Amino acid sequence: MTSEDRAAALRLLQKEASECTRCRLHERRTTVVFGDGNPDAELMFIGEGPGQHEDEQGLPFVGRSGQLLSTLLERVGLSRPEVYIANVVKCRPPGNRDPREDEIASCKGYLVEQIKLVDPAAVVTLGNFSTKLLLKTQVGITRMRGQAYPWWGRHVVPTFHPAAALRNGPRVVDEMVSDLQLATRIIAERPSVVEPGPPVQPEQIELFK
Ligand code: URA
Repeated sequence: MTSEDRAAALRLLQKEASECTRCRLHERRTTVVFGDGNPDAELMFIGEGPGQHEDEQGLPFVGRSGQLLSTLLERVGLSRPEVYIANVVKCRPPGNRDPREDEIASCKGYLVEQIKLVDPAAVVTLGNFSTKLLLKTQVGITRMRGQAYPWWGRHVVPTFHPAAALRNGPRVVDEMVSDLQLATRIIAERPSVVEPGPPVQPEQIELFK
């Protein structure tokens, strides 16, 4: 797929998502926060769901967590326009509660399509929520992080959610930097370290169950 095709397909998907009423989260949202960044990114981040600032601006990770994410990217020699950022759910859960099973189920088709279209070498899952969803694990982020997990022809690199780093300070920030460094190494080595996975099909939605 050419870069133009990929960008066009993402725009189309975003348009569809912008009118989405598949779950109750649409009732109280200001904006659908579809995702943002480089359609050809080798590194993709997946957070949990939009907060208040994201809901107001229609962009992921624009609040304090987002500022920290930008700083972390700089520390590993990357910038936001180079990466792609999305969330598990595209509409803000009221009061920032955790997204519910049915809300995730309604929304996950968008995320699967985003991963297929962007086709990154590494997916960094930010926090427990997206890590557990993609890797189908109940193991907490503290034990999951620090490693890369082969996942459908690419790697998932779990790390803390930036909000955890804001709460817990420099030790968590340093561990996140180390996880991002791991992701950048994977990107640099993509052709040699990633086993060719099965082609990514719409059925991959099942992966998230
Ligand atoms: N937290 C998330 O998980 N996603 C955002 O977009 C913002 C904060």
